[in-house]
Amino acid sequence: MNNKDFKRYTVTSALPYANGPLHIGHMAGCYIPSDIYVRYLRSMGRDVAYVCGSDEHGVAITIKAKKEGITPQEVVDRYHEMMKGSFEAFGISFDHYSRTSAKIHHETASAFFKDLYEKGEFLEQSTEQYFDEEAGQFLADRYIEGTCPKCGHDGAYGDQCEKCGSSLSPTDLINPKSKLSGNTPVLKETKHWFLDLARYTEFLQKWILVDHKDDWKNNVLGQCRSWLEAGDGLQARSMTRDLDWGIPVPVEGADGKVLYVWFDAPIGYISSTKEWANEKGKDWEPYWKDKETKLVHFIGKDNIVFHCIIFPAILKTHGEYILPENVPANEFLNLEGEKISTSRNWAVWLHEYLEEFPGKQDVLRYVLTANAPETKDNDFTWKDFQGRNNSELVAVYGNFVNRAVVLTHKFFGGVVPAKSDLSPYDEEVLEAMKAFPDKIAASIERYRFREALSFVMDFARLGNKYLADTEPWKTIKDDKDRTGTILNIALNIASNLAVVAEPFLPFTSEKIFNMFNLTGLNWKNAGEFDLLKAGVSINPAALLFEKIEDNVVEAQVNKLLEAKKKNELENTAVTPEKETITYDDFAKLDMRVVTVLTAEPMPKSKKLLKLTVDTGLGKRTVLSGVAEFFKPEDLIGQQVTMLINLAPRKMMGVDSEGMILMAEDKDGSLRLLKPGTNTANGSMIS
Ligand code: MF3
Ligand code: ZN
Repeated sequence: MNNKDFKRYTVTSALPYANGPLHIGHMAGCYIPSDIYVRYLRSMGRDVAYVCGSDEHGVAITIKAKKEGITPQEVVDRYHEMMKGSFEAFGISFDHYSRTSAKIHHETASAFFKDLYEKGEFLEQSTEQYFDEEAGQFLADRYIEGTCPKCGHDGAYGDQCEKCGSSLSPTDLINPKSKLSGNTPVLKETKHWFLDLARYTEFLQKWILVDHKDDWKNNVLGQCRSWLEAGDGLQARSMTRDLDWGIPVPVEGADGKVLYVWFDAPIGYISSTKEWANEKGKDWEPYWKDKETKLVHFIGKDNIVFHCIIFPAILKTHGEYILPENVPANEFLNLEGEKISTSRNWAVWLHEYLEEFPGKQDVLRYVLTANAPETKDNDFTWKDFQGRNNSELVAVYGNFVNRAVVLTHKFFGGVVPAKSDLSPYDEEVLEAMKAFPDKIAASIERYRFREALSFVMDFARLGNKYLADTEPWKTIKDDKDRTGTILNIALNIASNLAVVAEPFLPFTSEKIFNMFNLTGLNWKNAGEFDLLKAGVSINPAALLFEKIEDNVVEAQVNKLLEAKKKNELENTAVTPEKETITYDDFAKLDMRVVTVLTAEPMPKSKKLLKLTVDTGLGKRTVLSGVAEFFKPEDLIGQQVTMLINLAPRKMMGVDSEGMILMAEDKDGSLRLLKPGTNTANGSMIS
């Protein structure tokens, strides 16, 4: 069905886990694409419900809580607010952002489960599941890690391998280990409710591989095909878990069990729509039950199986619900050539970006779209970020709009001049302009946002080239009418550009509309020649984009490298213990508190400093290999610790009479060992 045939749209973006801040991978994966799509639909005058919310259940949350020593509730409260704030700041224009801890969601998800239960859809089975005896707990999903049987990846979770996208059961893992204790778990019997996915195979095969073979993305179809055509067929999946965090399983005999997070979370789209409709005094049902509603799920590739197989099976079984028309999943975004990793802090965090690049949300939206991982994994680099900002946004888009506005102020007192006779070139440019909105729209409707954005930039280039070719700064010398025509056309190109660029760069379009005192424009107006009428006053040029200097992006790369180094250090093993010695061995060491009196570099040595110290017993000379870490003035006057009965040793012609004690950090850097308070020189260390 064509978009025009739908009465309304329900657009969802994956509910992010409320277990950490958002980063550019989230944005590129599904929030920016969905926002572009929805802004476009709204501009077309379509009826849209754009819903999302925080995913607050599951092991992703409880693991974080354990790690931080706080309760799961505290975790979700903290990150729900933070994520919501980041989405708002980046202009992700959800109609409603809910959370799965909301009462309405608990009720909706419970009711769904009960409905399926009463229809006899679940296989009730007692099976052996992994149990951590030390923690006294079953190990659901991410509580267990091991080697993926499909691709050999080491850190596969109990329910899924994020590397190859396979959906797994804990018992599939090779060499499983408990995340809680690190122990190898034991098997223990427990009862669960399984969705018998094999029963849906035929329906899913037809619905996806036949009905949608031409309109779904290849990466999505490819993954679906591999499940639906797998030799061993679709496996039954448990929809319940032995956990104490989540929505209680609403049937008898299920004490201590909760709904599987992937059962309840997608239902969160429905709960969020209900909450929105309640607030707006609307009816939620048509958005989920009317065949004339187009349902579109925007997700990242690790969510494909849940949105294309499991959730549709649940909706289908329930019976009243529509199924998604499309599930445009993106692949992954890497960062500077490496997989983004929250735990390794290899990420560009949105809240940090906002602080470091205030007002530059559109630049990030632009780069993440221009370079979106639409068909394959892609790489974000700061160099590319800088390049696209400087040579595309500043040099083309910003330059064009700025010149049109500045020249209008300079030559026409800020009043839009009238158009007079059009040259053949003017006609040609106006015709070209007229073609852009449809072209851009067609790409957006096919979820090709990169391509759509490249057309938007072609449009800006057209404007930029028009000014360069017609040179109004020259024509003004002898032909004011001609100059007026040129600027009228340029300003109208800029107005049109602002309309079709709005889904991508909403903050910039808003600035342009404000400059031009334009309100209420939408896609239907795009392509019109006279959006901005002659005689209208415009405001002074506002800064749209500004150049980003080398040092700024270098600082960002350094920040990443620092984080990486820190992380590596944290993960480097501590030097193993040496062999045991007797007390008598220890008692032979004569260690004292001493004060450094003088310190000077040793000629021709990079490493050594020559120190004199007061040992309380007299003055000594010591050579110390600390020159890479301390300057002489860092040491003079400091109290440190020293082994004073080490046999003297001649180095570079100087007798070194002892050894200053230092702690060596994991990265090899040295730290002084000092008494906590001032201590008499010569005090014994024992
Ligand atoms: N929280 C999941 C993730 O981050 C996505 C949930 S999408 C939903 O991978 F459909 F379940 F809501
Ligand atoms: Zn794998």
